Amino acid sequence: MKKLIKNNVHWVGKVDWDLKKFHGEDFSTHSGSTYNSYLIQEEKNVLIDTVWAPYAVEFVKNLASEIDLNKIDYIIANHGEVDHSGALPELMKHIPNTPIYCTANGVKSLKGQYHQDWNFKVVKTGDTLDVGNGKKLVFVEMSMLHWPDSMACYLTGDNILFSNDAFGQHYANDRLFNDYADQCDLMGEAIKYYANIITPFSSILRKKLEEIIALNLQIDIIATSHGVIWRDNPMQIVQKYIEWANDYQEDQITIIYETMWNGTKHIAEAIAEGIREKAGDKTMVKSFNIATTDHNDMITEIFKSKLVVVGSPTVSNSILHTVSGFLHFVKEMKFKKKKAACFGCYGWSGESVKVLNKNMEEAGFEIISEGFRNQWNPDVDQIQKAFEFGKSLI
Ligand code: FEO
Repeated sequence: MKKLIKNNVHWVGKVDWDLKKFHGEDFSTHSGSTYNSYLIQEEKNVLIDTVWAPYAVEFVKNLASEIDLNKIDYIIANHGEVDHSGALPELMKHIPNTPIYCTANGVKSLKGQYHQDWNFKVVKTGDTLDVGNGKKLVFVEMSMLHWPDSMACYLTGDNILFSNDAFGQHYANDRLFNDYADQCDLMGEAIKYYANIITPFSSILRKKLEEIIALNLQIDIIATSHGVIWRDNPMQIVQKYIEWANDYQEDQITIIYETMWNGTKHIAEAIAEGIREKAGDKTMVKSFNIATTDHNDMITEIFKSKLVVVGSPTVSNSILHTVSGFLHFVKEMKFKKKKAACFGCYGWSGESVKVLNKNMEEAGFEIISEGFRNQWNPDVDQIQKAFEFGKSLI
């Protein structure tokens, strides 16, 4: 069922309450998601994006109940990733000659995925498409935000920015608009989305935001491809993106560790106590076991942190594989201007702290201490030393 966005613009997407993992099993989506597709019905009828492939038949059936598919003049594919283009093959069975507007990289992406020679029309930044009644779509390439083909478009007259993935969240919300959402949940999902998806591209985003702001467009609505449509103070999410893209950190210190027989866990607790003692209550100190905590949620916590303290016992002259895998994920995020220190228990060889330091350095963190090593189980004396180590990090 279509839902009104503004004037002759309607939402025709899919709210996916069931989605708990995205990008395969890579991204946890505790709050579900939406695949937002939009239908503009001016003198020309324009469809912006579609939905994820499993909902293709449902999407096309619903769309056909709202408009004669043959009356769709143009399709805009802002992004070729399957969560937005997945219903194109089903739709194009009905209207195979309808032009699809996308970037040059969009053609490569769509051809590469669907192996169809559809009627592609390549657009670049500044190109426009007249939709009638004095309105037009203005295209803005958003390369590497977050795929090479990513694009946004702006509808003049209604002042709607169709931003695709940018400013999105994996957040199911039948009432669509940001002012109808639980604000805590919404912003929690928005920062998680940024931390896990956009962080590696923050420097590109900074330049793109400057470019968009310089266009001096009146933006009344930001219609993303996931989650809410920002209509109440839509620039609030742009402001947040400016903050997040500039090496964001809060007054937070996060301890992440894995443990075998609780020795490293007890050290983690003592370090946390030392940090709290020295830093005081104004500093948020959080502690997570890497093996039992959602990795995307931990990435969000690291995104918010100024210092990350990492622990692993020594195993086979190295670290536990759960820690190793998670630190690979941390490295992918290309965090900037964050500090790290490491710790761990060992029985005989004791390489874990050295390996952790190397991993965190390669992930772009400034290592502020040689680290804390403990042989066998920590006794009262060693727990006190771990506490002092925590204090020394502040
Ligand atoms: Fe929502 Fe990059 O796809």
